[in-house]
This record gives sequence, C-alpha cells and structure tokens, in this order.
Amino acid sequence: MNLIRNAGLAAAAALAIARPALAAEPTVAATPPMGWNSWNHFAARIDHATVRAQADAMAANGMREAGYRYINIDDGWQGQRDPAGAIHPNDRFPDMKALADYVHSKGLKLGIYSSPGPKTCAGFEGSQGHEVQDAQTYAAWGVDYLKYDLCSLGPAMIAAGSIEKAQAIELAAYRKMSAALRATRRPIVYSLCQYGFDQVWRWGGSVGGNLWRTTGDIEDKYPRMAEIGFGQAGLSKYAKPGQWNDPDMLEVGNGGMNPTEYRTHMSLWALLAAPLLAGNDLSRMNPDALAILTNRDVISIDQDPAGQQGDRVRAEGPLELWVKPLAGGGKAVGLFNRSDLPAEMAVDFAELGVSGPVRTRDVWSGQDLGPIHSYQATVPAHGVVLLRLSS
Ligand code: GLA
Repeated sequence: MNLIRNAGLAAAAALAIARPALAAEPTVAATPPMGWNSWNHFAARIDHATVRAQADAMAANGMREAGYRYINIDDGWQGQRDPAGAIHPNDRFPDMKALADYVHSKGLKLGIYSSPGPKTCAGFEGSQGHEVQDAQTYAAWGVDYLKYDLCSLGPAMIAAGSIEKAQAIELAAYRKMSAALRATRRPIVYSLCQYGFDQVWRWGGSVGGNLWRTTGDIEDKYPRMAEIGFGQAGLSKYAKPGQWNDPDMLEVGNGGMNPTEYRTHMSLWALLAAPLLAGNDLSRMNPDALAILTNRDVISIDQDPAGQQGDRVRAEGPLELWVKPLAGGGKAVGLFNRSDLPAEMAVDFAELGVSGPVRTRDVWSGQDLGPIHSYQATVPAHGVVLLRLSS
C-alpha cells in the first residue's frame, strides 16, 4: 500500500517539477521580435508625429500582416525628472500614454529606450537610481518593450578596477531593471544593449534579457553590415525561444546599399533568427525595400517556431554556406558571395545531412525547384541565394 502511495507521490512530485518548466515557456519574444526602431534613420531627431506616421505606415503597407508589431522609440524622447523623481518625456512627446494608445489602436505595440547609467548614449536622462519608478511609469504609459543601453554605466565599470567587479556592476544593473519590469506584471520585452562585451550571449538570459546586442552599432554600408552579420558565426547555440542574439537593427531601405546587398542583409538576419527591427522611414519607403522587408518566406525562416539560430557550415574564401534547421526537419540554406565579382557556388544536400532529393524553394525568386539533391548557381557580388529545403 505504502509502495503504491509512494509511487503516487513520486508521480505527483514529478508532475510538480514538470509544471514550472511549462510555466517558464516564454510569454514574450517566443520568436525573434519584429518591428521598427527610430535610431538608424532618425537618431535623436524624433517626435510623436514621426512615431505615429511609422505606426500608420506599418498598419497600412502590409508589414503588420507580415508579422511586424513593435514601434520602438530609441534615444531622444526623455525630458526631465519632476521633484518626486518621475521621468517625463520632452516637449516633442507631449503625451506618451496617448501615443501608446494610438499605437495599440493600430494593432501594434510600443517600445521605449533607457540606460542603466545616469545618462543615455545621446546624453539624455538614464534610469540609474530610478529603476522601479521608471518601470512603473513605462507600464502605466502602456509600453511593451524596453531597450536598455549600457552607455554611461561604462565609466563606473572601468573605475571598478577589475573585470570581475565591472561585470558584477553590469549584471546587477541589468538584473535590477529586469526585476522592476517583472514587478509591473506587464509583459515587456527586455532588450539588453551593451555591444556584445563580456560574451553577453552566455549570461544575457540569466539577467532576464529576451535579446542582447552581440555587436557595436550597424551602419548602412555593405562592409559594416557584412562584418556584423557574418561575424555571428559560432553563436547559434546561445539562442532559443525567449532569448535571442541581436546583431542590431536593419538598414534595409535607408539607401546605403543596393537591393542585392539588402537581400543579403535580410537573408542573413533571417538565418540568424535575429530580431527584425526595420530601421528606415516606413512612411517614405520604396517598393524594393517593402518587398524585401515583407517577403513571407524569408520572415517564416526568421520566425520558425523551433527557434534555432542558423550558423556557418563552411567558408571558402569569400564564399560562405549558412544553414538554419527548421521545425519539422526542413532547412534554410544561404549561399553567400562576399566577393566583389559574381561567383559559381554549389551545395550537395548530402553535405547538410539530407539524404535523397527534397522539394526546394528559391526564396527570393519565388521558384519551386522540385525534388533535387544538389544546387548550383551564379551568385552575384555581395549577393545570396536563399533556399528552403522541405523535410
Ligand atoms: C548606442 C546604441 C544604438 C542607439 C544609440 C542611441 O549607440 O548601440 O543602437 O540606441 O546608442 O544613443
């Protein structure tokens, strides 16, 4: 009898252990966040009308239907603190709650930006010493996403005198805001921005981060985009649902790269399961940029529910092969030509562990290639062929 009872208790205990694991399923950022961020195009020249115009555009141009959700205000919205310490927006943002309501009315979500230091990178008010108060203010406004940028915490870390002490200061600061956000009970995506120092991919999740920047700032130039994107090789094992590597926001549509290069940018970010945060002016976008940002096949690679980041399989000089495993056993394959001249590239699917011919889609041309077991093509300079192999 006791045996049976004990077995029952053991089973109940096993269930009790299993439950928190289920409860820990990510409620935010189950797939990489998609949206828009003000910094790459507008920098600190941002105001509420511009933000509203981005929300209008996203809701009208097909981006919302393609999965884009967050309208993120980066640095430059902050005004002064009042005598009670509450942060107020500057006069370019007369009513943050009304702005959040407006963004929500479009079926979208609002993001905001601060720093764990006394000042942000552009010299505005940071959150140091006001973490709980700021988190409550953001929640009261209806904010759904916070980018928390190291900025002026850096000098205090350097002054700490050792790597260990500096890291302790940094982790404590990121944990403090994470706890403050959680205490609001509002689901708020928490985005760490400290430029990839200290192998943040190893600890970003443990301080509550849903994503963490792995690099310094992107620029709207092919060499910088390529340096950052291809530099992500080896980091795939650190990403999973709710916790993503962030190689910075998109530059698609800002004008510094040609459409071939922007397709490379978008393909690489999709293979990396990177956040897809458009960084252009959505209210004045050319059709090429919109087509690149809303290509459903590319987005479905980025947003694949398995949440496995892709990685580099081989590099022969400037010719790189990247693969991302997909839910159900399919694979996304990128053949990248980083050189300045067109190049012949080939892949035998056996090399990727695929036995036998598989249905294959050339994502950018939209062509279904029928069951094949290898592929070869001329890939343009700085270009890509992105394939989706069925299981
Ligand atoms: C840093 C970040 C950028 C942007 C600016 C704002 O440089 O890396 O993404 O947020 O600060 O000042």
